[in-house]
Amino acid sequence: MPKSSDHHGAGATGSIALVGAGPGDADLLTLRAIKRLQTADIVLYDDLAGEDFMAYLHPDAELIAVGKRAGHPSPRQDEVSRLAIAHALLGKNVVRLKAGDPTLFARADEELRAARDAGIAVEIVPGITTATAAAAAIGASLTKRGVARRVQFVTGHDVDGRLPRDLDLAALADPTATTCVYMGKATFPGLTEQLIAHGLSAATPAVIVESLGSETTKILRGTIAEIAARLTIDRPSGPCIILYGAALAEA
Ligand SMILES: C[S@@+](CC[C@H](N)C(=O)[O-])C[C@H]1O[C@@H](n2cnc3c(N)ncnc32)[C@H](O)[C@@H]1O
Repeated sequence: MPKSSDHHGAGATGSIALVGAGPGDADLLTLRAIKRLQTADIVLYDDLAGEDFMAYLHPDAELIAVGKRAGHPSPRQDEVSRLAIAHALLGKNVVRLKAGDPTLFARADEELRAARDAGIAVEIVPGITTATAAAAAIGASLTKRGVARRVQFVTGHDVDGRLPRDLDLAALADPTATTCVYMGKATFPGLTEQLIAHGLSAATPAVIVESLGSETTKILRGTIAEIAARLTIDRPSGPCIILYGAALAEA
């Protein structure tokens, strides 16, 4: 199968696609994501993007890991953008493969701006974000008529690794919302204390899902207080998403 850059004339500028890989299972890649992978010359991929996507690549495609694989520090964000732009300026079709959806907690804004500033066409290919994949894994609906009217996605991790200091705690303690906490396994105990102080019941149902889409997926159900207590004594090593809210009562 020809890659699309094979059709470019000499000197033509390539493209960059920020592609969502979903939560790790290859069958949760979208058809559009698969099409972009099939025609990619270069794939810059994050750690959490899983590896199943490789089955869709053209044999000549070049793969570059830009996560913290093999204990190496991850390249700086501007270095990742620079790599993508350099390849696109050579006429290559670059796929920036990101776990989940590229518009959620994936610094897509910085990569979009860098590509646009360099005059390179950039496209976003949405992916299934971890929160909705986790809801599917636990067999729950994130919204529930009369119970959960809002869903909020929040990061539990600031640039310094701590709980962000400017969180809207009143919103996060809203008993009529379902909250999906990304990057929160270290800070959830502290967050829970503040949620309870802002009036959320300690008995609010919660679920933590570790390493979704892998053979080592673990699901732990409880209340926010129980999940927080568990994370205080035993912090999972894999990536985790935490969902909490009344809608999860029957999950
Ligand atoms: C940098 S954010 C990327 C989020 C991603 N763009 C998305 O839409 O899911 C990384 C965080 O996403 C969550 N995450 C990503 N992959 C996961 C997985 N396979 N299992 C559980 N949580 C995951 C964790 O909270 C992790 O710390």
